[in-house]
Amino acid sequence: MLNWIEKRTGFVSMTKDFLTEDVPGGASYWYVFGSATLFCMIVQITTGIFLTFFYAPSAATAWESTRAIYLNPYTHFLLSVHYWGSSAMIALVFLHLLQVLIFGAYKSPRELQWVVGVLLLLVTLVLGLTGYLLPWDMDAYFASQVSLNITGLAPGLGPVIQHIAQGGGGMGTATINRFFGLHVWLMPAVLVLLVGAHLAIFRHNGSAGPVVDDPRKLKVGRFWPDQMFMDGAFSFIIFVIICFLAFAFPPYLDAKADPTKFFVPYPAWYFLSLFGLLALVPPEIHMGPMAIGTELIATIVVPTLFLVVVLLLPWLDRSRTRSFAARSGILWTTTLVVCVIVALSIYAQVTTMAKQAAAPASPPESVVLGAAEASTVSSAAAPAAATATNANGAKVFASNCASCHGAQGQGAPGAFPPLANNPVVTGDPNKVIGIVTSGLHGQISVAGMSYNGQMPAWKGQLSTKDIADVVTYIRAGLGSNHASAVTEAQVAGYKP
Ligand code: HEC
Repeated sequence: MLNWIEKRTGFVSMTKDFLTEDVPGGASYWYVFGSATLFCMIVQITTGIFLTFFYAPSAATAWESTRAIYLNPYTHFLLSVHYWGSSAMIALVFLHLLQVLIFGAYKSPRELQWVVGVLLLLVTLVLGLTGYLLPWDMDAYFASQVSLNITGLAPGLGPVIQHIAQGGGGMGTATINRFFGLHVWLMPAVLVLLVGAHLAIFRHNGSAGPVVDDPRKLKVGRFWPDQMFMDGAFSFIIFVIICFLAFAFPPYLDAKADPTKFFVPYPAWYFLSLFGLLALVPPEIHMGPMAIGTELIATIVVPTLFLVVVLLLPWLDRSRTRSFAARSGILWTTTLVVCVIVALSIYAQVTTMAKQAAAPASPPESVVLGAAEASTVSSAAAPAAATATNANGAKVFASNCASCHGAQGQGAPGAFPPLANNPVVTGDPNKVIGIVTSGLHGQISVAGMSYNGQMPAWKGQLSTKDIADVVTYIRAGLGSNHASAVTEAQVAGYKP
């Protein structure tokens, strides 16, 4: 069988070639970070593809579709794995980079592999940044606004890039579409190409191996099975951790983006240090060009210079030796830089938390997920409170009714009647129970528009409790509907 395939494709010998890579000094758990990053990338691409099945990129649907993803336990877990997978991937890229740095593995002839690696870090960060906007909740909106404004600060092309990324002068559907395109097409494509290049260069030069005086004296290990086992074991542990975090600490959905409200955004942890740098710039000295100068330094000049130094590292540190003793300068600088980044991150965390404590409180997630409209959510008004207790109704609606009647019960003109601001829905509760349990067909007219479709019967499809909750929800949770709740007993006792 294998022979048959090998004769026609050469795949078997290709795989053998691939697996018989030499590992100087033998396999080691030091080398697992690169392959674990690759593993995370595969997790991200897989979960990401499935998320596109449920996500609808536009200002009118991004938050609504994300909310529907949250309300279904399976898609919620999928999203949660994608969320924690991104953190794991970025953490592993950093660890991988740090390990290469410590071992001096960026030195000749591996300069270009280092450069491609740093570019991979950048692409991963851009993926994190663009993904952050997609849920289109308050945090997504305001955090992305900060990054877009920072882009606009850059001299020269900055404002142009901001305009293109934003898709105009302000943030809206065009912005979501741009970020979506970047997040699901352009950046993953670039990522896969760069990873290919990174691996090809790696195979060309071979593994750098441990730091020793004379590499020729090293015994040579095999990639298969020793290193492969370590890589696999470590990736598996990472996967278990991601799944545990996804299960125990799913991400949080804020109220729908509302530019008119005040909100203190909190960045993803990997951008905290940049936020910290920005927070260090005293905002009080905003007088004329001076203030712009300091902001520019914190947000553009310092990070760019840092990046250039990191990219050029193999040419800045030209000594041939990789010994730790001879490279104490680099090692101490690395330690210092890591400490500064951690300190800036902590500083950003503390200042953001202080600002959030001073800002008006955001509604708890149960309210966000339970209420139909962002406007009723963010004002702590009575309807929001009423729907908060009916999260189940919202859930039943999102998974059974929204596909026809719209996420906000707005309907589709001519095809599906609106349920929001519909006097039949807020009228006689018994009639509504009747429609939902037994279905409805024949000509009806809502808000001057006539409909003649088939409303399915839900009796037997949904439990009595679900029907009571969803009827209560459509009567009080959609548009400006304010009608009385319906009890399980009413539904159970319904007679046509
Ligand atoms: C497959 C699409 C579809 C789904 C799913 C659906 N409906 Fe309907 N619904 C309709 C159509 C079509 C009508 C209009 C029927 C007609 O023209 O007589 C309707 C009518 C209604 C009406 C009456 C509106 C009026 O003005 O008389 C209510 C109430 C209603 N639906 C509630 C619900 C609820 C609650 C759910 C979820 C449990 C739901 N619908 C799911 C298609 C759907």
